[in-house]
Amino acid sequence: MTVNTTTNFGVSVIGSGCSSPAQKITNEQLASRVDTNDEWIKTRTGIRERRIIGPNESLSDLCFKAGVSALEMARWAPETLDMVLVATSTPDDLFGMAPQVQSKLGACNAFAFDLTAACSGFLFAFVTATQFVRSGSIKRALIIGADQLSAWMDWDDRRSCVLFGDGAGAIAIEASPVNQDAVIGFKLKSDGSRGDCLNLPQTRDFDPLVSSYQNQKGGFSNIEMNGQEVYKFAVREVPSLLQDLLLKCEIDPESLDWLLLHQANQRILNAVADRFSIPHTKVLSNLAIYGNTSAATIPIMLDEAVRDGRVKPGHLIATSGFGAGLSWGAALFRWNGPS
Ligand code: ACO
Repeated sequence: MTVNTTTNFGVSVIGSGCSSPAQKITNEQLASRVDTNDEWIKTRTGIRERRIIGPNESLSDLCFKAGVSALEMARWAPETLDMVLVATSTPDDLFGMAPQVQSKLGACNAFAFDLTAACSGFLFAFVTATQFVRSGSIKRALIIGADQLSAWMDWDDRRSCVLFGDGAGAIAIEASPVNQDAVIGFKLKSDGSRGDCLNLPQTRDFDPLVSSYQNQKGGFSNIEMNGQEVYKFAVREVPSLLQDLLLKCEIDPESLDWLLLHQANQRILNAVADRFSIPHTKVLSNLAIYGNTSAATIPIMLDEAVRDGRVKPGHLIATSGFGAGLSWGAALFRWNGPS
């Protein structure tokens, strides 16, 4: 699906924020727990360290801090928000974390809900929120991507535990005149038939209920991943989707200011850029210090690049999220916030 239909309003992307846990775990520290080493992790992934939520922090706290930063950048009072959308696969509460965040923010006039699409979650949430704005249903939305995959990791599985970290990032969008629309297009895709290469499945434990009946106990096992399959999926599908989107929107890859991809592996970022002959200097990357923070990578990266002056007002950004589901998506947008 691609935006190109008549809409009532456009969308402005005007605020960003992020928050990371205090605990920093380096590759060397991980090597004291599992059979790995700094050289292998750096060479195969580009990751040097990651942030992990400890005893005195929670994911909803990180969401709150990221949200406050984005609201401050947008210069919005919290009560002017209409919607708080949290993309996460690891909420503090399975019934939904977004209302907790809405309450902490003081966004008393906003409705709030969670959306789950793993590492594509932020992209899917961004597109979802833009549809509310475009239709005129709401004026202002805060979109947060946040995950705590460290809680669902087998820390003795070196094939996956070295990849992930925790964090939260947020973006503020609001309605604009339709002729100033900053969101040029998007495409979203899913293929559940290939979903078994990356899962966080429920455990299959049962309790006696009544008589001979049983009920399933709640609980999830650890992340199960076929890294090579996920890698092949990403380097095949992401360029193909971006290519379709650029063609549909009649945008030349050369006119992109930035490629803002889900931060999974530096080799994936480089492979996608090479496919479009985009210089690596235009590829935003911070996975060396955060690892893969799932739904949080894209807004954390955007916020850092806005605050350090790389992303400037009017810059054209191609973004893409991909991951479990399998799900993947891409969007083209301009940054309208401050430099
Ligand atoms: N340290 C040292 N050696 C390791 C480690 C480690 N941490 N992990 C694996 N190895 C070993 C393997 O055992 C293997 O050894 P062998 O040849 O003796 O059998 C060797 O290194 C090569 O393993 P590969 O799996 O072939 O390594 P590869 O180059 O494919 O890299 C990786 C693995 C980094 C996981 C890569 O496949 C990848 O990045 N895949 C994508 C994963 C991903 O991004 N997942 C998240 C998606 S987003 C979401 O929705 C959550």
